[in-house]
Amino acid sequence: MEKSFRFFLRFHLFVFFLLFFTPIAPMTVQAFTGTYGINYGRIADNIPSPDEVVTLLRAAKIKNVRIYDADHSVLNAFSGTGLEIVIGLPNGNLKEMSGNESHAMDWVKENVQAFLPRTKICGIAVGNEVLGGGDYELWTVLLGAAKNIYNSLEKLHLADVVQIQTAHSQAVFANSYPPSSCVFKDNVVQFMKPLLEFFSQIGSPFCLNAYPFLAYMSDPENIDINYSLFQSTKGISDSKTNLHYDNMLDAQIDAAYAALEDAGFKKMEVIVTETGWASRGDDSEAAATVDNARTYNYNLRKRLAKRKGTPLRPKKMLKAYIFAIFNENLKPGPTSERNFGLFKPDGSISYDIGYHGLKSSADSSHLSLKDFRARGWVQTFSLILITLLWRWFYF
Ligand SMILES: *[C@@H]1O[C@H](CO)[C@@H](O)[C@H](O)[C@H]1NC(C)=O
Ligand SMILES: *[C@@H]1O[C@H](CO)[C@@H](O)[C@H](O)[C@H]1NC(C)=O
Repeated sequence: MEKSFRFFLRFHLFVFFLLFFTPIAPMTVQAFTGTYGINYGRIADNIPSPDEVVTLLRAAKIKNVRIYDADHSVLNAFSGTGLEIVIGLPNGNLKEMSGNESHAMDWVKENVQAFLPRTKICGIAVGNEVLGGGDYELWTVLLGAAKNIYNSLEKLHLADVVQIQTAHSQAVFANSYPPSSCVFKDNVVQFMKPLLEFFSQIGSPFCLNAYPFLAYMSDPENIDINYSLFQSTKGISDSKTNLHYDNMLDAQIDAAYAALEDAGFKKMEVIVTETGWASRGDDSEAAATVDNARTYNYNLRKRLAKRKGTPLRPKKMLKAYIFAIFNENLKPGPTSERNFGLFKPDGSISYDIGYHGLKSSADSSHLSLKDFRARGWVQTFSLILITLLWRWFYF
């Protein structure tokens, strides 16, 4: 009699705790962590402060961020936030870093070591779109700079924490259609191969800046804009591999995989370090509309959330950094260059893809790191409790 009553009581306590604590778990899941990041370009004189950007990113639950330099006000603002940041060594510094190892060491101490571990600097992009670009002298110093920065990290025991990378534009490729025919350009390959050799030794990925927007604009007669926008189309078939592509971004990434394989680096992973679509452009840039930008970025977000690979590398989950957080009013070039932002300079959204921006995000921006930490503890504690109760109930 007494025994069955205790059983009854235990059972109810058990169910009570289960009901009380289990709903906590799903709340801590962060939607795009691991596949979705964003570029924080700052060539503007009217964008929010780095602290406000932290608030914006937290509200949007975007954890992976890239900047194009090592600005200390940004690195300070990101301190203790849990945001993971890849910083940039600008092209203008490559020659100096390549020529003198002690300068590379000074740079790493000043811009990386000084901020770790409070600011989670997880990578250094050494130069940007150097190979295939207009400044040939940079081609010759890129590898030397990457090596000197890497050696400095290693001496400081930071090489396991901070990854060396460099982002490439489509200008390194020849024949990217169909994807399987893609190779590196003849004049690029002699610089690319030693770089890839080094990157494969240190476990770095191939970083690709991929813009279906630019590819479409270069040949609007022959490319279906809906294919560039992840909308439903017949897609394209690659007759050599028998693979089918239903969107251009996947095809561009597999073209990069094909070029890597051709160069002897079949195992190297490709990540997309920039992709996006401008919401405004010059008369000659008719595809740069709010509608198209919204469609591209909305569908891209859905594509990344699937956590799937590409047709050629189905097991390598696609990871991409969106370009960019803000419209940047001081960027030179065509109007589209100044209109890639998901957000306007006042922090409001450029168009709706599910983010709220600074203005209407008062509620979610209260969600501070403390809440996350507290939730983490409650979650751990409740798991232990549930385990104990489980044992108590059954044994
Ligand atoms: C590198 O820079 C340091 C400090 O600026 C200088 O003392 C040294 O001579 C330089 N080394 C070379 C090889 O230029
Ligand atoms: C693209 O798709 C939209 C709707 O999904 C359609 O209205 C439009 O005609 C299509 N454009 C082309 C060039 O096929």
